[in-house]
Amino acid sequence: MPQKVILDVDTGRDDAVALLMAGHHPALELVAVLPAHGNAPLETTLDNTLRTMEAGGLGHIPVYAGAETPLLGQFAPTLDIQRVKLPLPPASKQAEKKHAVQFLIDYYMGADGPQTIYMPVGSQTNLALALRIEPRIAERIPHIVTMSGAYQEGNTTPSAEFNILADPEAAHIVFTAGIPVTMVGLEVTARALVMPQDVERIRSIGTPWAVIAADLMDADVKWFQEHLGSEGGQIFDPCAVAAVIEPKVLITKSMWVGIELQGNLTRGRTVADVSGQRGWKPNVDVGVDMDRERFVELMYDGLR
Ligand code: RIB
Ligand code: CA
Repeated sequence: MPQKVILDVDTGRDDAVALLMAGHHPALELVAVLPAHGNAPLETTLDNTLRTMEAGGLGHIPVYAGAETPLLGQFAPTLDIQRVKLPLPPASKQAEKKHAVQFLIDYYMGADGPQTIYMPVGSQTNLALALRIEPRIAERIPHIVTMSGAYQEGNTTPSAEFNILADPEAAHIVFTAGIPVTMVGLEVTARALVMPQDVERIRSIGTPWAVIAADLMDADVKWFQEHLGSEGGQIFDPCAVAAVIEPKVLITKSMWVGIELQGNLTRGRTVADVSGQRGWKPNVDVGVDMDRERFVELMYDGLR
């Protein structure tokens, strides 16, 4: 039986690749998609999500529009590369009438909830709101696999990874809810670099979704090469999808992780007790490495 997943996104390029990979990989059943604010305002992330689902042969999967602002209303600074309308045809597909937060509560209080992995790969505002409105879902969500966080250096500030900084209070609520969390952070995405030759191999698959994914990854790989001089690109969100398809592709270490909410320089940091010497009770399985070749294979299988 394929593993049921719900993707909570802020569709930008890498979210779109994650959607196509999760939607088409035989090991997964993408139940629903929940866009929120993050890479861009909700209006853009929602439109990008609808365009991706329709152009990517996933128009049958419901999309529920979510939170427009973080809990405390300060937007994280975004880069030009993030604030993009994806180069895809306008969608005729519409979002469902129900709000993402209400869908989350109804779904996880229902029969399929305990079989469905929740995957936040953008801000965590939707899940935080659902947990505040209906705390009982914390006992029914079996596992959160999130692309977020960093136990070494951030990417938006030296302290903070973007998805956490997009709504630190929401991340605090999620990371302290008692739900098993696997954090696929920047240390993982920096090891699972996608190289230009990987992009071309995926493009050669020839399916509409493989071509779309290749075009999106090509832009990101070029950005990393030009701006950071790296050999390949960090294609963040698909790393979380790979970790659900085949957990052993991700190397993790259980750590205590807390979200910094106050610091002028450190707000949005996932503060991790890496050594474990303090004896603080671990609450997160933190990704520390990923098998790059296997990751690319899993992406290839998903886009075939
Ligand atoms: O820091 C990387 C994360 O921020 C990715 O999820 C990317 O899509 C942006 O949301
Ligand atoms: Ca994202």
